[in-house]
Amino acid sequence: MQVPGIRRTVSRILAMVFCLGLLAGLGGFYLLLQDRALRQAASEARILLRSALAIRGYTADHIFPKISRLPDGEFHAETVPSYAAQTVFRMVASDYGAYTYREPALNPTSSADLATPFEVELLQRFRADPALQELSGVRPTETDRLFYLARPIRITQEGCLSCHSTPARAPPAMLAKYGTGGGFGWEMNEVVAAQVLTVPVTQGLKGSLELVGVLGLGLAVIFGLAYVALVLALDRMVIRPLGALSRAADAASQSGDPRLGLPRAGAGEIRRLAESIDRLRISLGKAMGRLGREPAARPESGD
Ligand code: HEC
Repeated sequence: MQVPGIRRTVSRILAMVFCLGLLAGLGGFYLLLQDRALRQAASEARILLRSALAIRGYTADHIFPKISRLPDGEFHAETVPSYAAQTVFRMVASDYGAYTYREPALNPTSSADLATPFEVELLQRFRADPALQELSGVRPTETDRLFYLARPIRITQEGCLSCHSTPARAPPAMLAKYGTGGGFGWEMNEVVAAQVLTVPVTQGLKGSLELVGVLGLGLAVIFGLAYVALVLALDRMVIRPLGALSRAADAASQSGDPRLGLPRAGAGEIRRLAESIDRLRISLGKAMGRLGREPAARPESGD
C-alpha cells in the first residue's frame, strides 16, 4: 500500500476541518437567528395583545358608560369591548395582512366570531385546564408562517351576563341586530372565548437564511484563502526542500564524494536535517575509510 504524501494528508485534514467548521458554524448561526426571529415575533405579539386589551378596557371604562346614558335607547355595538378591539385590528390588518386579532368563541354572538377548527382546539385546551394562561407557537398558512399568541377570555364580571346570559336580559336592540342564535348561556368563570393574535415570522426567517448565506460565503472565501496559503507554504517550505534533500542525499551516497554538499533550503527543521545528514555522511565516510585501511583486524576485539 502506498503511504500518502504530506501534501495529500494535510490537504485532506484541512478540507475536513473546514467543512466541519463551516457546517457547525452555519448550523449554529441559523438556529440562533431562528430563535431570535421567533423571540422577536413573540414580543411583538405580546405588545399587540396588550393594545387589544387596552382597547377593550378603554371601551368598557370610557365609552360604554357615556353612550349607555344616551336617551335614544338604541343599542350601539361601539360600546362592546370585543367589537371595538376587533374593529381596530381589522383596520390594522387591512394594511398588514398577517397581523390579525380575533376573539373566537364556540358559541359566538356574532357569526364572524365562530371559532375555526384551529381556534376550537385552542379553546378546548383553555377550557380543559383552568390554570393555562397562554398558548403560543408557529403555524403555517398557505402563504406565510404565522406566530400565534392566544389567551383565554373568562367571564369574571356579572355585567357581561346582562348581554350574554339569556336573550330576555339582553337589550332588545342588540337582539334585533344579532338575533338570539348565539352568545347566550355563558356562565361566570367560564372560558367563553379566546384572544388570538397572529404576527408574521416568514420575513424574519427569510432574513435569517440570507444572513446565513452571506456568512457562509464569507467563511468559504476565508477558508479558501487560508487553504491555498497553507498548501503553498507547505509546498515551498517543506515538500520541495525535502524532495531536493532526498534526491541530493541519494546522489551523494551513490557517488561517495565528500565534497558533494546537500542543499540548505526550506523550514528551519529541514535545514537542520540537511546539516545532520551531511555530518552523518561525512563521519560515515571517515569510518568507512578507516575500516578499509584495517581489514578485519579489529571487529572481534570486543569494544
Ligand atoms: C351591551 C351588551 C354586551 C355586554 C355588556 C358585553 N358584551 Fe360581549 N358582545 C356583545 C356583542 C353585541 C358582541 C358581538 C360584537 C361583534 O359584532 O363583534 C359581543 C361579543 C363578545 C365576544 C366575541 C365573541 C362573540 O360572541 O362574538 C366576547 C369574547 C365577549 N363579547 C365577551 C364579553 C365579556 C367578557 C363581557 C364582560 C366584560 C362582555 N362581553 C360584555 C354584547 C355585550
